[in-house]
Amino acid sequence: MQLDPEDEQILAGEQGETRQKMLELLVALGKVFGAERLIPIRSAQVSGASYKTIGKYGLDWLTSLDAKAVVPAVLNPIGMPRGRWREMGIDPDFAKKQQAVVAAYERLGIRLECTCTPYYLHETRYGDHLAWSESSAVSYANSVIGARTNREGGPSALAAALVGKTPCYGLHLAKNRKPQLVIDVHADSSHWTIADFGALGYHAGKFVGNRVPFFRGIRPDPDQLKALGAAMAATGAVALYHVEGITPEAQRISYDISGLNVIPVEMTEISCLFKEIPVDAVAVGCPHCSPAELAEIARLLSGKVVTKPLYVFAAQGVIDKNKNSAAVIEKSGARVYADTCMVVSPAMEQYPSIMVNSGKALAYVPNMCGGKARIGTIADCIRVATE
Ligand code: F3S
Repeated sequence: MQLDPEDEQILAGEQGETRQKMLELLVALGKVFGAERLIPIRSAQVSGASYKTIGKYGLDWLTSLDAKAVVPAVLNPIGMPRGRWREMGIDPDFAKKQQAVVAAYERLGIRLECTCTPYYLHETRYGDHLAWSESSAVSYANSVIGARTNREGGPSALAAALVGKTPCYGLHLAKNRKPQLVIDVHADSSHWTIADFGALGYHAGKFVGNRVPFFRGIRPDPDQLKALGAAMAATGAVALYHVEGITPEAQRISYDISGLNVIPVEMTEISCLFKEIPVDAVAVGCPHCSPAELAEIARLLSGKVVTKPLYVFAAQGVIDKNKNSAAVIEKSGARVYADTCMVVSPAMEQYPSIMVNSGKALAYVPNMCGGKARIGTIADCIRVATE
């Protein structure tokens, strides 16, 4: 792998042991995947932030590091809202450990914006090289924005943040961004909701695996694309997809899709996922809500009172800029929490059954929270939470 003089300096330990070790990790990763060089990144998004997922060994490793991020870097959702953890019913012992994880990242210069939607907070542009790790954020960056990132692990994203570079392989290279199969959706999707696109992603991820699909027959908006990609990254390992006439690379690049395998998807394969089971709590905001989603939830909740716990998750920066929506939602008795989500917070494990409007949450809640999950539209979620 070609390294520039600054890389050689770092490898020689001239910028400290942590940066040396981090660059060694990136070089080793690059060699495994055949990267010829490192490339500068515009930003990093670091997973491995919830104490629920990294535990004691992760925390010990983080506290042993000593360097500062050299590019804007944010954190993935953690196990609790930083300011309102008592209210969410978080165990004080867990909170103490989670705060130690947050403090360790803060010392490393990682911004305490704990979210899977960093693209709402910091401008990310077409063609930017990134080192992001949360799978829905990776999918959104690659597919909806046209930026370039591999699906990083927590340590490699952190290493990239501390060095400012990532190995140039995988989805950083145009040759690996071409469609590998076509999905023809045989359904009238003109009135589909975010949940419908989440359900399509839940279904498609299972047969797409880690390939790059090219969708035909749908016209999702950005929030619907977010839901589609998040779910495909959960049931499959899809880090990039294209939608004919919609996503930026499908608009700018004439991909040759003749000769690719074409897989039809019928409406019944989507609608069968909407099963009506009793639920104990409702959670929306997976991935974290956009301003438009917060406004829609506020509109649906206006003048109503919740009869079941209703959690809404969004980035703190998005909540701060949409205070009116958040206030209307909270007036109903629902809670708008930043920094965490229904999957990474241990508080959600108290509910035997959770209703969501997300294909990704439908896939993850049973394994990560131990309960059943039901998917419904946002309107259905609000109806169930207030009936
Ligand atoms: Fe984000 Fe948590 Fe869903 S990290 S994508 S809200 S599982």
